[in-house]
Formats: sequence, structure tokens, C-alpha cells
Amino acid sequence: MTTLRDAAADAGVHVGAAVDADSLRTDTDYRETLAREFDAVVAENAMKWGRLATGEGGYDFADADDIVEFAERHDMYVRGHTLVWHRMYPEWLRPWSRSEAEARRLLRTHVQTVAGRYRGRVDAWDVVNEAVADDGGLRETQWLEALGPDYVAEAFEWADAVSDADLFYNDYGADGRSEKADEVYELVSDFVARGVPIDGVGLQLHVFDEQVPPADVAANVDRLTDLGLKVHVTELDVGIGAAVDDRAEQADYYRDVVSAAVDAGADTVVTWGVDDGQSWLPVASGGGENPLLFDEQFRPKPARDAVVDALSR
Ligand code: XIL
Repeated sequence: MTTLRDAAADAGVHVGAAVDADSLRTDTDYRETLAREFDAVVAENAMKWGRLATGEGGYDFADADDIVEFAERHDMYVRGHTLVWHRMYPEWLRPWSRSEAEARRLLRTHVQTVAGRYRGRVDAWDVVNEAVADDGGLRETQWLEALGPDYVAEAFEWADAVSDADLFYNDYGADGRSEKADEVYELVSDFVARGVPIDGVGLQLHVFDEQVPPADVAANVDRLTDLGLKVHVTELDVGIGAAVDDRAEQADYYRDVVSAAVDAGADTVVTWGVDDGQSWLPVASGGGENPLLFDEQFRPKPARDAVVDALSR
């Protein structure tokens, strides 16, 4: 049987999954499925600041290290997620009343500690995650308030100084044609024009309320690659409920959207989890059931075969 991993190798792309460190340690089926079917990983949570932090300025890299070591043993590509985000930061960062200089020092130290530690081991970093607002402009975050709008570009400079990974901007709702997709395009075009060290854009592609038309994803990938940037589909999941009615329709959508993205030049596709038993989507979306390529018993679903198909053409 052709695995996803075989099909991806033939297509010259990576196919990955978001990984949970506990499941990796404790669940043999999880480990076997991951190593057999995927050639790329990203930590679902283990590299987020709030998960790495132990007290003020301290770090515990045990979970993140386990994921990276697993990837190395199985010859997998590693996406790092994520250095700068407005969620899942450590509690000790509160309150946000620090001076601008102190806030900048804290964020720069964090970015460089984590990106520096994994230099040569993480292949691509989501340097900044979800910095664009849903209604235009930059999202009002702690970092925007403390550091001003240039913090996004600064984060790329800081990461670039210590890392040899490809540096990505990652966001949701910017996958196909939308105002937010245009906003992200403007942001990264400006970076390219100004020489900010950005290498790629991550399209999360969480699909649950409505389908993002595959042709729109292709058009977006096209214009981003025209800027000289790489494009990764970083958090793909397709919930059954509103966007698709059943497993067959889910498989069709997976096939169409993966082939559209890859044909347009996306070179990595990562699903946000391995199996339906451990997906964030049903809770997060209030619906959107069973969104992944393997069921809760790790049996391949039609969607998995559809992605093999999409990569085999
Ligand atoms: C989610 C994880 O899947 C959950 O386990 C966690 O509770 C919250 O974060 N966009 C992102 C990811 O960039 O980091 C989020 O991951 C999902 C949305």
C-alpha cells in the first residue's frame, strides 16, 4: 500500500502532522502511524511559550525535545510552531505594564532562546502567528500595544540572527480569497520589499463552517510564490458537519484542496493532528467532527487515500 509518505516523496513535497508529546510517548499506534505515513511534524503545543515556560525566564524543553528527537530518528522535516503569538504565553508575563524596552527585551530573548536552541534541527519556524486582525490591520495584541507595529518585522530579524531555518508568517482565514488574505499578502509583500528576512507564508486552512474553494487557495498560493516566498499548508483539518456532510465529501475536499495547493507550488502540507480521537477542532469549532485522515483507531479514512491520490498525480 502506498503511504502518504511515499506519495509525498514522489511529489517532492512534505506531508506532516501536528504532534502531541504525551501521545508520542504513550501510544504505540500513534507513533507507528506517524512514522509510517508522515515525513514531517510540528508540535501542536509543545513549542509555545506558555508550554515551554517554567517560572520567570525559565524553560523546560523536554516535550519539544522528544518531538524533535522522534523526527530525527524517523528522518522527518520539522516545523517549529510558534515563537510569537498572542495566546498561550506564560502567566508571569502579566501584567502588560512593562516599559517598551523591557517588553522588547523579553520577547527578543524568548525568540532567540528557542530558535537558537533548535538551530539546525527545526527546518521552518512559524516566527509570528496570527498577527493580522480579522477585520483588517494588525490584531490588537499585547505585543502591538507594547512594541508598536514593527514588532512583526523585528521578530523575523531576531529569529534570523540565530536560526538557519526558513522563517514563516502563519495565519488562519487567509487561505483563499478574503480581505484577510489580502492583508497578509500586503504584510509579507512589504517585508519582501524592505528586505525583512521572511522565507514563507503558512496557510492554516482549518475548514469547518464552509469550504474554502480550492481554486481560491491555488490563486493565493500563486501570488505568494510569485513574491519568491514558500507556502506551506500548516494546520489542515476538514470537519464533518457544515463544510462537508460525510466522509466521502470530506475525502473529495481533501483531494481537491491538497492538489490545488501543491499544483500551485505549496511544498509542505501538514494536518492539525494525526487521528480523529485527538483533534482540537470539534471543541474549538463547536461542530466540525472527525476532521483528520485517520479515525480514532488509527484506521485510514477515505480522506487519507484521497490525499495519497492528490499527491500521486
Ligand atoms: C491549538 C491546539 O490545537 C490546542 O490543543 C490548544 O489548546 C490551542 O491551540 N491556530 C494555531 C494553533 O496556530 O496553534 C492552534 O492550536 C489552533 C489554531
